[in-house]
This record gives sequence, structure tokens and C-alpha cells, in this order.
Amino acid sequence: MKVEILNKNLSQIKAEMELVFVVNKKMKHRFVRDAKTLQTLGFKGEADQLALLPEKKRLYIGLSSLSTDDLRSGAGLATKALSSSKIKSLKLGLYFNEEGEKAAQALTEGFIIGAYTHQKYKSKTQKSSLKKVILTTEAYEKKEFDFSELKKAVASGLKISQATNFTRDIVNQTPEEMTPQEMAKTAKELAKKVGLQVKVYGDAYLKKEGMNAMLGVSQASPHPAQLIHLIHKAEGAKMRVAIVGKGLTYDTGGLSLKPSQHMRTMKQDKAGGSAVLGIMKAVAELNLPIEVHGIVGAVENAIGKNAYKPDDVLTAKNGKTIEVQNTDAEGRLVLADCLCYAQDLKPDYIIDLATLTGACVVALGEYSVGVMGNSRKLKEKLRDSAFAAGELTGNLPFNKHLAKLIKSEVADISNISSGPYGGAITAAMFLNEFIEKKNKDKWIHLDIAGPAFTEKPWGIYGYGATGAGVRMVIEWIRALTTK
Ligand code: BES
Ligand code: ZN
Ligand code: ZN
Repeated sequence: MKVEILNKNLSQIKAEMELVFVVNKKMKHRFVRDAKTLQTLGFKGEADQLALLPEKKRLYIGLSSLSTDDLRSGAGLATKALSSSKIKSLKLGLYFNEEGEKAAQALTEGFIIGAYTHQKYKSKTQKSSLKKVILTTEAYEKKEFDFSELKKAVASGLKISQATNFTRDIVNQTPEEMTPQEMAKTAKELAKKVGLQVKVYGDAYLKKEGMNAMLGVSQASPHPAQLIHLIHKAEGAKMRVAIVGKGLTYDTGGLSLKPSQHMRTMKQDKAGGSAVLGIMKAVAELNLPIEVHGIVGAVENAIGKNAYKPDDVLTAKNGKTIEVQNTDAEGRLVLADCLCYAQDLKPDYIIDLATLTGACVVALGEYSVGVMGNSRKLKEKLRDSAFAAGELTGNLPFNKHLAKLIKSEVADISNISSGPYGGAITAAMFLNEFIEKKNKDKWIHLDIAGPAFTEKPWGIYGYGATGAGVRMVIEWIRALTTK
């Protein structure tokens, strides 16, 4: 599907359907030309309310405001609603509150992300007929805008939403297909396509580098662990950022086996690593003026005669020893080594993304990303970026009392908390043990266990992977480079 913006009025554009947003129930607007019919249908323009009038060739959607977030949702709703129709083209006016560019980008994202479906495993695929969405410059309210800037914003929105869908495609693939090696292959293909440097390391390198925490998790799997490292280096870049992702291509729980109801959907456990690949795609395509390293720990947590066990002690890359008390707390083991690897690159900032804990979902609900770290300022920055990008977050603060719960009698640290509460925070505080002193305020951990995968549609997302974390981190990197 294509989204474009043309410097024309609505009547100058031929399309099979027009999308009309009814903002804050305001039915008296020149765009709303079917007020009577809508009234008969009981359409009042309430948020997310929808009325399709095929004869009039108009699709009405209610929005509570003109905020970028509401526009993104409205656009997502529109393409979702048309997904099984025969409509091939859609046009709409120019809606925005303050900045036209932000609105144009958000609308584009909503259309592309809303239209996404994953049909690789259907023998008969149902392709959406919708081929083209045309934004015009006929404004809902008379306001200043710069057309060339709007055009750029649509182009950025396209790249960002396509990167999001790229991430979703990786996450949605089965564990048998999207193995660590397949993930590495996907990274290599991406690197070639968009112009990134890429390095992939296997068992021998991990052993040589003392990355035994990551190796321990992997050792029962027939699919060898892969450390994927992608690099975007813009000319004259002044800042270096490392983005690290948990890429558990499957999490059975290991010998601390997950019960069936909790194991299903654990193909999503590679969502953090997949987000890193999506972020790197966008960073390259937007050619952001910065140096970005994308690091993915791609591993399968399986069971078998070689499986690592509760009571094992693993030594991470930095020499710290870890008492394994539960093999299902494997993500933090993989990340411990990957965070050490990332810090060797001497980055100015380190962000990790991981479907790390069920506790994060309990704490914040399934729609929000948990934001954790030592720097309040940096946490705020990421939360602002998330807000701007239309992702939900919650702050989960560290404290010294919870830190005590991951002490070990046997090794330097335990991989699970001795207490029942605050599991998202204790997991992040475990990761904090692998952050060097000088990097404490440069690091942020994003727990995406809630929003990364959904079985019931919400917002602009349908069934499956959502690409959680992708937009907010891209927005944060963009904000870094435009200061
Ligand atoms: N991958 C899971 C966390 C998860 C849960 C992701 C739900 C997505 C949705 C993680 O590896 C895990 O199993 N965590 C355990 C930790 C516990 C053993 C301390 C959990 O959350 O129960
Ligand atoms: Zn687990
Ligand atoms: Zn996991």
C-alpha cells in the first residue's frame, strides 16, 4: 500500500472513497456532508465510532481530538475497516492541530501499521484491495503549513511504519522458521539492502569472549546461538548509541518449564531483538546523522539432555558469576552478556529492549512499555519520545530494598528475586549489575512484555506482533540528532 500527499484540494483527487474525521463530535463542518444519514445511523462522531456510506463514497470516523495520537488511531481504524472491502483508493483532507508535519507522519504510520496482516501461514491469502491513500492539502481548519515539509514527514512516516511492520514480520514467524540462524540471515539481508555493516558471531566466538551466560541458555537447543551486530555510521557522526535486544526465538522456560498456557505465544520472546532490526532499518533509511549499533542476542531456550539447570553457576563476559535458580529467567542472562558486549563499544547511550517479565505486564497492563534505569532524566526523555511516537509507557523506579532480593548465597548474584513482588524491577536491577559504573546514567531498559504481542486487536494493531518499542526508540534517536 502507498501513502502520498498531493498539494491539491479533495475535489481534484479521484479516489473510490473519502475518509472524513468527525472531530470532537463536531457534525457541523463542511467536510461532514451526510449529517442526516449519519444521524439516522446513530453516528455521533464519538471516539473510534465508524460509519461507512458506500453510496456516498465516504467513510466517517470519530476522533476525540486532532492530537497526533488520535489521528494515528483514526488512520489505523480506517485501513483496518477497509481491509476486506474492494476499495482500492482513499483520500482525505489535511487535519492537524499544531504541527502539520507531525500529523502527516502520524497519519501515514496509522494507515500502514493499521493495514498490516501476517498471512504467511495461510494457504489462501486475503490481500487487501486498498492500494493507495492520498492526503490532500485541503485543510480541516485554516492553518499555515509548508508542503515540502509535509512531503518529508509522509516519507519519514512511511519508513518508520515499514520498519515497524518489518519487526512484526520477524516476530510473527514460527520458532521452527525464525531460529537464531534465520534471524542472523534476516539481519544480513537487511544490511545488504539498506547499507548497514553487519557481523554475526556463533558459539566459538561466544566461548572465546566468555559469554557463558548467553551460551548457558542456548546449550540445549539444536539451533546455535547467534550474536548479531549491525552498524550504521553516518559521516561526521558525533554520538554513538547502542541498542540491544533480547532475541529469544523461543522460550520454553527450559527445565523450569513453562505451563502450556504460558508457553504459547512465546515466539514473541524475540520481539526485543526484532525491534532492534526494525530500528536499524529505519535509522539507515532515514540516514540519521549518528552512529548506531544494533545488537541482538538470538538464542533458543529449549529443554534436552544438555539443558542448563537450576543450581548451575554461569560466568558472564565481565567475570560476574550468576546463580541460576530458574531457567525461565533466561532473557536477563542473554542480555547480561550482550550489555557487556555493547559497553565495549564505548557508546554514549545504551538502550535495551526485551520481553523480559510477566511482572511488567502485571504492573503496567498489557499496553505499556516499562521504562527503567538509573537516570531520571534519560527515563523522562524516552517517555517523552514514546508519547510523541504514540506508544504508552510507565515508569518503574529502582530502589535499594528490591536490590537486596537478587543477592545470592552461592554466586555474585541470583537470576531471580527471592521475593514475590516487583519482578520487572528486580529483573532490570539484575541487568544493572552488568552496567559499568561510568555507564550507569547512560543506560535504559525497556520491558516490552506487555505490548509486544497481542491476541486481541487494540489501537492501530491487529492480531500478533505490534512492533512495540520501534517507533519510540526511533523518535528518541531523531530527537538526539536534532538538538
Ligand atoms: N519471556 C518471559 C517473559 C514474558 C512473559 C514475555 C509474558 C512475554 C509475555 C521471561 O523469560 C520469563 O519467563 N520471565 C519469568 C521470570 C521469572 C521466572 C522470574 C516470568 O516473568 O515469569
Ligand atoms: Zn523465560
Ligand atoms: Zn523469555
